[in-house]
Amino acid sequence: MSLPEPNSSSAALVTGASSGIGSEIAKQLAARGFTLVLAARREDRLVALADELSAEHGVRVETIAADLGKPTPRGRISGQIEELNLQVEILINNAGFATGGEPFHEADPEREIEQVRVDVEAVVALTSAFLPAMVKRGRGAILNVASTAGMQPIPYSAGYSAAKAYVLTFSEAIHQEVRGHGVTVTALAPGPVDTDFWQIAGWETATGRSFERSVPGALISPQQAARAGVEGLERGERVVVPGLPIRAAMTAWRYVPNAFRLPALARFMRPGIED
Ligand SMILES: NC(=O)c1ccc[n+]([C@@H]2O[C@H](COP(=O)([O-])OP(=O)(O)OC[C@H]3O[C@@H](n4cnc5c(N)ncnc54)[C@H](OP(=O)(O)O)[C@@H]3O)[C@@H](O)[C@H]2O)c1
Repeated sequence: MSLPEPNSSSAALVTGASSGIGSEIAKQLAARGFTLVLAARREDRLVALADELSAEHGVRVETIAADLGKPTPRGRISGQIEELNLQVEILINNAGFATGGEPFHEADPEREIEQVRVDVEAVVALTSAFLPAMVKRGRGAILNVASTAGMQPIPYSAGYSAAKAYVLTFSEAIHQEVRGHGVTVTALAPGPVDTDFWQIAGWETATGRSFERSVPGALISPQQAARAGVEGLERGERVVVPGLPIRAAMTAWRYVPNAFRLPALARFMRPGIED
């Protein structure tokens, strides 16, 4: 199944478009001729990207500066898009961040809750805001950015791995529900991607290096992740894991019981703590 055709009254809403994977997804969609609405907190970055994409591809690009972890600004987004006389036919739920690297009992409680609000609550709220109209029109596509972190519980990243497990399960279930309604839901589940995400997470492992540099051969660029996500969205795939090494590893890892996976991951994440 292909994406809805670009037209002057429809748009792709991309959250977290101010950097990393989100801004690369925006570039991929602009190159395909879609009108875009870019959302994130850093307005200057959104405006700079909007100017770049409209100059390069001749597409209309609007920006909405909003903290997606806060219900009030997030709740205003669908009205703001209506005022622009646009309908969201493609929704990219990409905004997110990770806590991690410490046991949950030592984590900052406010940051853990904020992670649930941005990584989970915003995905649910925006899907609720736009999916019913897509189903009614019989046309639409949603890409939710999950993670391979959501494919097993990760000690010392309890909140993030649980948040991404939610996104993965939520997406796969709705993918099935909307089959036959002209709407597709795809989860993009990358392993490590080379973005600002890691500096923000400050997630160091037993190797003494940041997590993304600790898994040999797994790191991919945000361009690769975005391309795989948009191509998966075009094909209406259920789950996309970009990059052969991490895809192969995750396929094998699925068959390892948690009794083995959890202590192994704990040792990898925090040396000495489990001994
Ligand atoms: N990098 C990886 O290795 C990796 C792997 C798997 C999955 N992912 C997922 O990929 C997605 C994108 O991450 P990235 O790697 O591209 O990281 P990034 O470069 O740090 O981008 C994160 C984006 O999310 C936005 N964001 C964060 N908090 C927000 C909030 N409260 N309200 C609105 N926007 C917010 C940021 O914009 P502002 O700061 O301007 O608000 C930014 O545009 C995330 O969901 C992440 O969990 C990343």
